[in-house]
Amino acid sequence: MRAVRLFEYGVPSKLTVAEVAQPMPTARQIRVRVHAAAVNPIDAKIRAGSLRAIIRPALPFTPGMDVSGVVDAVGAQVTRFKPGDEVFASPSHKTMGSYAEFVCFDEREAAPKPRNLDHVQAASLPLVGLTAWDALTKHLRVQQGQSVLIHAGAGGLGTIAIQLAKHLGARVYTTCSAGNVAFVKSLGADVAIDYAKEDYAQVAKDVDAVVESLGGEHMDRAIQLVKRGGRVALLTSGMADGVKRFGLALGVLHTAGRLLSIALKARFTRGVVAFPMNRRADGESLAKLGALVEQGVIKPVIDSVLSLDQIVLAHEKVESGRCRGKVVLAIA
Ligand SMILES: NC(=O)c1ccc[n+]([C@@H]2O[C@H](COP(=O)([O-])OP(=O)(O)OC[C@H]3O[C@@H](n4cnc5c(N)ncnc54)[C@H](OP(=O)(O)O)[C@@H]3O)[C@@H](O)[C@H]2O)c1
Repeated sequence: MRAVRLFEYGVPSKLTVAEVAQPMPTARQIRVRVHAAAVNPIDAKIRAGSLRAIIRPALPFTPGMDVSGVVDAVGAQVTRFKPGDEVFASPSHKTMGSYAEFVCFDEREAAPKPRNLDHVQAASLPLVGLTAWDALTKHLRVQQGQSVLIHAGAGGLGTIAIQLAKHLGARVYTTCSAGNVAFVKSLGADVAIDYAKEDYAQVAKDVDAVVESLGGEHMDRAIQLVKRGGRVALLTSGMADGVKRFGLALGVLHTAGRLLSIALKARFTRGVVAFPMNRRADGESLAKLGALVEQGVIKPVIDSVLSLDQIVLAHEKVESGRCRGKVVLAIA
C-alpha cells in the first residue's frame, strides 16, 4: 500500500510517500481502508522530533491520528465492528499511521462514522472533537449559564469547542484575528476578541473556565483572568518549545516543572484548578460526539483538502498556524 513515511525527524520535506506492506490487525484491532485522514499540529511536533521524549515511534513510521474509512479486516477478538462498517477514529499515538491507504488500531478507539458526513468531513473531527469533549465536559465541567474562554476559535480545535460549548449552554468568548471575527460568530461565539486590538484578559475577565491552547505566557494569563475557583484546561504543554530551547532532557524537565508550578500557583493563590490534558482515544466519547453531529449540533470545518502526495504542503499549512478549521488528506 502507499503510505507517508518519516525516516528522520525534521522539516516537512522529511515526509515522503512510499510503498509499504499492508498492516495486519492484532486480536483487538480493526484494519480500516482509509478514505480520509486529517493533519493535526501534534503530527507536526512529532515529525519535528520535539515530542520524542514522550512519543517516540521507531523510525521509519507513518504519522496520522485522525481517520475516516471502511473496516476491511478484523482481529480474532473484535466484537464491535465487521468488514464493511464505516468508522471514524483518532488512533492513539502508540499506533498512529492514518496517512496511508490502510491503518490498524484498537476497535475501542473507533465509532460509527456519522451518517450525514462524507469521509473527508468525518476525518476532520475525531482528535479535535475528543479534545473539546474531554476539556469541556470532563475537565472544565461546563454547565448551562457558565462562561468559557476558548482560544484560537478559528482553528481546528476552536471551531469544534465553540459549537460544543454553546450546546452545553455556555456563554462563549473566543480569540481570533480581525478576518475571523464574523466566522467565529457564525459558529456561535457570543464575544469574538480580535487579539491584535483588544486585551482578551480584560474582555473575558472572570469567566468560569478557559480552554488554553496558545501556551507560553498565555497559561499564566489564563490563571489570572479566570474567576476565583474557576477551571483551566492546559492543552499545549510547551514541551516542543522547551526541547527547542534547552535540548531533550532539560527541555522535558523544564516543561514538567513549569506545568507543576502553574498548577500549584493556580490552586494556592486563586483556588483555580488548572491541569494539562490530552485527548483520550476513546470510541465511546467519539460515538457521543457523532450523535451530536448527526443532530446537526456540531458541523465540521474544513480549511483545505489535499492528496497523500501533498503531505509536505499539508504540514506546512498546519505549521503556519493560520488554518481555518482542518486540513484533510483525501486518500481513497
Ligand atoms: N492536548 C491535546 O490533546 C490537544 C488536542 C488538540 C490540539 N492541541 C493543541 O492546541 C493548539 C491548537 O490546536 P488547533 O488544532 O486548533 O491548531 P490550528 O488549527 O493550527 O490553529 C490555527 C488557528 O490558530 C489561530 N491563532 C493563531 N495565533 C493565535 C493567537 N495568538 N490567538 C488566537 N488565535 C490564534 C488562527 O486564527 P487567526 O488566523 O484568526 O489568528 C488559526 O485559525 C495546538 O498547539 C495543538 O497542538 C492539544
